[in-house]
Amino acid sequence: MVTFLSVVGARPNFMKVAPLHRALLPYEGRIQHIILHTGQHYDEKMSRVFFEDLELPHPDVYLGVGSGTHAEQTARIMVEFETAALAASPDLVIVVGDVNSTLACSVTCSKLGIPVAHVESGLRSFDRTMPEEINRMVTDILSDFLFVTEPAGVENLAREGVAPEKVHLVGDVMIDALMRYREKARSSRSMDELGVAPRGYTLVTLHRPSNVDVRERLEIIAGIFERLQDATTIVFPVHPRTRRRMDEFGLAGRFDAIRSLRMTDPIGYLDFLNLMDNAALVLTDSGGIQEETTYLQVPCLTMRENTERPVTIDVGTNQLVGLDADLVVTKSMEALGGWPKRGRIPDMWDGNAAERIIRILATAYGAV
Ligand code: UD1
Repeated sequence: MVTFLSVVGARPNFMKVAPLHRALLPYEGRIQHIILHTGQHYDEKMSRVFFEDLELPHPDVYLGVGSGTHAEQTARIMVEFETAALAASPDLVIVVGDVNSTLACSVTCSKLGIPVAHVESGLRSFDRTMPEEINRMVTDILSDFLFVTEPAGVENLAREGVAPEKVHLVGDVMIDALMRYREKARSSRSMDELGVAPRGYTLVTLHRPSNVDVRERLEIIAGIFERLQDATTIVFPVHPRTRRRMDEFGLAGRFDAIRSLRMTDPIGYLDFLNLMDNAALVLTDSGGIQEETTYLQVPCLTMRENTERPVTIDVGTNQLVGLDADLVVTKSMEALGGWPKRGRIPDMWDGNAAERIIRILATAYGAV
């Protein structure tokens, strides 16, 4: 019997580990699967609701590290994870995505001599001011198995000198989850609760430090919503970081005054999936939402200067608009007026990425 330990920490991790957990079920008796939650995200609406929506079992190990500066949070995860990894003694640790938990656990494993598999490897924004870019680069250099979602990731890893036999283009586990739960999400009541109809609203998510931690940039965002308020209802589930900054900068009243803006607490996986699926337009600075809207073929304007997911632009529905208010408004009006960017679904985004990954790992560990 071999033991694989999967790490989750923050909201965008849960929908990536759920398909891996499911793909491991047929290997029961040959592969033991331990799920470890670092506690990087801890609010009910940022964490527990996702376990329920995605039918993930309760984590076997919970580290409860909580928030802090990057150094504090990363260091706390490393200290706690080292003890947990020594106790569980896994044959392999699986990390996903690019959050601080991903980095902290891969660094700790490499010092303990535990092999690491990185799911969603190879993505690069080439912008080192993004904490996630550092997390991606360090994790990839330390990983033994690198599972990639799109061709650009394979090219990036080759350029960085990663041995090609470690790299596997397998598709996107987040799309596996989306395909599995799309139908179930249709019974979500969130559109009724928000008083919006299919294709009758713009869905917004914004939480990048580069957008929300700077007063002037958050003011530009308020200005964009003000210019759009007569053209569309704006549904905006607000991340705790963004909510805190609105209050700190004294901007909460300005956002509250925008007539067609419906701000909510963060919402669960199924409700959010259904809101994306039915939106006329999505405005975001998230990584994962660029991929999900490409799959759903919903127009997406990404309020960043770059993306680590170029396939969403090359073949998907995504366009980069930065925080250029005129461009955001013009492109939004185009999409709302019925001229959205049409896209197609990238190769291998077919719902079977997790199975491909587990087959490769099970073969490597003689567990087939
Ligand atoms: C983290 C990830 C980011 C990901 C995002 C998704 C890193 C470096 N960043 O950013 O890549 O896109 O998650 O949400 O790992 N907070 C709460 N409740 C929680 C969690 C956080 O209130 O359950 C508040 C705290 O005030 C905290 C702040 O949000 O200080 C930021 O949380 P943190 O985990 O540090 O980073 P995110 O901005 O969530």
